[in-house]
Amino acid sequence: MSIKEYLAAQTAIVDAALERLVPAESIEPQTIHRAMRYSLFAGGKRVRPILCIAAANCIAPSPAGVEDAASSLEMIHTYSLIHDDLPALDNDDLRRGRPTSHKVFGEAMAILAGDSLLTVAFEVLSNLQGIDDSRKVALIRELATSSGTVGGMIAGQVHDIEGEGQAPTAALLERIHRAKTGALLRGSVRMGAIYAGASVSQYEALSAYGEHIGLAFQIVDDILDVTQSSEALGKTAGKDAAQHKITFPAVYGLEASAVMAEQERLAAHAALAQFGEGAVHLRELADLIVQRSA
Ligand code: IPE
Ligand code: IPE
Ligand code: MG
Ligand code: MG
Ligand code: MG
Repeated sequence: MSIKEYLAAQTAIVDAALERLVPAESIEPQTIHRAMRYSLFAGGKRVRPILCIAAANCIAPSPAGVEDAASSLEMIHTYSLIHDDLPALDNDDLRRGRPTSHKVFGEAMAILAGDSLLTVAFEVLSNLQGIDDSRKVALIRELATSSGTVGGMIAGQVHDIEGEGQAPTAALLERIHRAKTGALLRGSVRMGAIYAGASVSQYEALSAYGEHIGLAFQIVDDILDVTQSSEALGKTAGKDAAQHKITFPAVYGLEASAVMAEQERLAAHAALAQFGEGAVHLRELADLIVQRSA
């Protein structure tokens, strides 16, 4: 199966799970369910849930129900994007090729749509069938920690906002990126490992892989903000420089940033050594994260 076919198949599985797990638009109050679905089904790449499923498959062939755990990651990620785009944060009006949530539903409803996706994510994990409670608790802990305030996504968003206008140092850059994007990507891989019952050594290897692709992902996001058009990205290009964000291109320049992303890709591959053929999709996903154009 080509990577393209693999991604299409996994995306269909994730989308079907999201469709089933998020309240229908016909359910009251309809506005909030419309707003949640508007952002969720706008055509994201589904990188985080697919990483979760691929990591689980690396340990055990297709563990039943893993797509529900994986979907919780897309809910958290989509909430983080809705809030990232708010006027008080990055103030963006384009996301996933559509007007941002607050442009369509107003700020109050966009804030609540983010809150709701965050809440449903944990409801979904608490409802998981087919794994024992200790694994369920470990999944809940991993999702909370990787999106939280101590080294997690929110910590990174705080550093990112506070970093605007500050001198772009390498140390601050790494702190921002490892947290705001790296933590949830590593968490995605870890959740797949936990779901499938990874051994300690498998969990550690997958965590290392997750850290490398997590950093690579945001390096490339920063590069694409400079090199691509808004049309290609489905979000406003050139925003980082305009908002004086601390990014890889701002600190190291474009060429050195691309070299660093490539180094992370190779390190991610190396971390998978013990899995052999079982990690073929994780290897392809690392390649895609670094070689993508949107
Ligand atoms: C964008 O994430 C925000 C970052 C964390 C860099 P993605 O590039 O995964 O966005 P979607 O989900 O495909 O829209
Ligand atoms: C956002 O980083 C990371 C999140 C936690 C949402 P960016 O601000 O660079 O993401 P984009 O470029 O708007 O997608
Ligand atoms: Mg931002
Ligand atoms: Mg942004
Ligand atoms: Mg960006």
